[in-house]
Amino acid sequence: CYLSQIILMTLSCHGACAEVDSDTEAVAGKGFKLGCISCKRRSEVPGSATIEWHFRAKGDADFVLIYTYNEEGPTIEHDQFLDRVDWNGSKRSNDIQDASIYLLNVTFNDSGTYSCFFNRILFYDNYEYKDVVSKVVHLSVVGKATRGTASIVSEVMMYVSIIGLQLWLLIEMIYCYRKIAAAGEEALREAANAEYLAIASESKDNCAGVQVGE
Ligand SMILES: *[C@@H]1O[C@H](CO)[C@@H](O)[C@H](O)[C@H]1NC(C)=O
Ligand SMILES: *[C@@H]1O[C@H](CO)[C@@H](O)[C@H](O)[C@H]1NC(C)=O
Ligand SMILES: *[C@@H]1O[C@H](CO)[C@@H](O)[C@H](O)[C@H]1NC(C)=O
Repeated sequence: CYLSQIILMTLSCHGACAEVDSDTEAVAGKGFKLGCISCKRRSEVPGSATIEWHFRAKGDADFVLIYTYNEEGPTIEHDQFLDRVDWNGSKRSNDIQDASIYLLNVTFNDSGTYSCFFNRILFYDNYEYKDVVSKVVHLSVVGKATRGTASIVSEVMMYVSIIGLQLWLLIEMIYCYRKIAAAGEEALREAANAEYLAIASESKDNCAGVQVGE
């Protein structure tokens, strides 16, 4: 989930749109960002969208409208969320692709299913295209932050692989150092040998010369 945040940040730096899934676990008493992103299929086509968020509490049968965001701005439509929702989506534009909202002071009663709707109009040269996209977030509220086993396992794996890599690097360095040192000694020995042979053969030649001279 950190990775996806980093990817999202990188992409939003470049103005690109990425449909990252919302987190689904909120902590009671804290704030929580309900994510909802719908990228336009054709990013170059100008568009405009209004947003609706619906909520179905755990155990309830029906969805109720809780929040709208349109030309007139944000409106909280349900008492349960009065003064507790902030817009976290696209700013300064009707061409909304990020419709995320921020829940303040989450309570256990906020557990349930949220669904966001994009009512989008795409303005082509000769016509307008209407499109409705919806996304669903299943939110569970917990007393304090719990961490998924998967995230703990992946963190442990990360440390294991970092330590493993460093050990491997160290061993490789020692191995290389030894090899270089050995190669150096070998070269020295060879050079010494060569010199010895050269001197030996030279003196042999000399001897031969001397013998011929006699
Ligand atoms: C979302 O809104 C909340 C409350 O206004 C704010 O604290 C938070 O920084 C916002 N987050 C983003 C990503 O805009
Ligand atoms: C949220 O909680 C804070 C701290 O407990 C409190 O000061 C604030 O009034 C609460 N806000 C709402 C909207 O309940
Ligand atoms: C949660 O819902 C129950 C039953 O509807 C209600 O009695 C309680 O006051 C609610 N709690 C909060 C924090 O809104």
